[in-house]
Amino acid sequence: MILIVELLILGAILLGWWFVNDKRSYKKYPPGPPRLPILGNILQIASESPFPSIAFLNLSKKYGEVMFLKMGMVEAVTFNSPDTVHEILNHEKAIDRTRSTLPMIEARMYGRNLGIIFSSGEPWQKMRRFTIRTLRDFGFGKAASMDVVVSEELEKFTGYLQKQMTTEGVVKVDGLFDLTLVNVLWRLVTGVNYSMDDERILELLKLSNDMIQNTKFSFDASAAFPFLWHLFPQWSGKNLQMKVVKALQAYCRVTLEYNRKNCDYKSNPECYVDVFLQKIDETRNDPESEYTDDQLVLCLLDLFQAGAETSSKTMSFAMLYVLIHQDI
Ligand code: HEM
Repeated sequence: MILIVELLILGAILLGWWFVNDKRSYKKYPPGPPRLPILGNILQIASESPFPSIAFLNLSKKYGEVMFLKMGMVEAVTFNSPDTVHEILNHEKAIDRTRSTLPMIEARMYGRNLGIIFSSGEPWQKMRRFTIRTLRDFGFGKAASMDVVVSEELEKFTGYLQKQMTTEGVVKVDGLFDLTLVNVLWRLVTGVNYSMDDERILELLKLSNDMIQNTKFSFDASAAFPFLWHLFPQWSGKNLQMKVVKALQAYCRVTLEYNRKNCDYKSNPECYVDVFLQKIDETRNDPESEYTDDQLVLCLLDLFQAGAETSSKTMSFAMLYVLIHQDI
């Protein structure tokens, strides 16, 4: 009995010490809900909503538009209104944005600061500007040039729908637009155009979706406690994620090599990859150059994942919405 009381007192002292220390450590951080040892704010977030964005919004009503949260070992500041997001993104220090430190993201970037989505600082700014400029040069976002590509893909898409309805009688909406949207984007990015039943690209899209959908508890837990990712590779999703990352990296590298060998990129660049290859050649002797094969692989990987999944899910949602609300 005495031992239990002693343990309880020790526990209370340790807890008190932890709270004082925690308050001191995060004195200069934005306000946020009180944290628990080890878990941080995980319980408060989970009790608000299964969707983090909604949980953040609810909590921010109490703690402010700029809020500090600790999710296990991960520290985060959330910006919870369009105005604060706008202000932060336009701040000169936004260029130093530090992105996720998840081990999977590190592995995806070959442990370096590459690509657009997860990179930071000057390399991010350079790659982002180069990518937007180059895609625009090839007609991205311009109705006059996009219309031709979109109409061609639409024709293929409706042909596929008709065939599917004749043979199967049903069409699965989830993932229905994946390949069509990749095709539209990929014409400008790589110059390649896939048929609607290209098995290799369909498999890659499926893998990519599997990875993005893989948000089960173990994935969240290893995001909050990254050491779990290494410790339990099957349970945490590490094995699946690494399989997908390696497959996508390999696919992007093959694409790059294909254009290098088969396209007249030096004198007649016809897509984003071609212009990037020109840049690699031009800056080959500059050890500081951002334009490298690995950088191109990561930019392709980012465009593939950011461009396909987002647009495709938006289209699937819109289609289902119109089906359910036929009166609108
Ligand atoms: C309906 C379609 C789309 C939606 C809803 C969407 C949504 C988003 C969001 C929310 C972000 C910010 C993510 C973050 O910073 O954490 C983002 C970033 C990004 N998106 Fe999209 N996106 C769409 C289409 C596209 C397309 C078609 C492309 C390719 C051309 C693309 C390429 C990118 C890239 C490269 C980034 C990273 C930008 C950066 O960090 O500087 N997205 N997208």
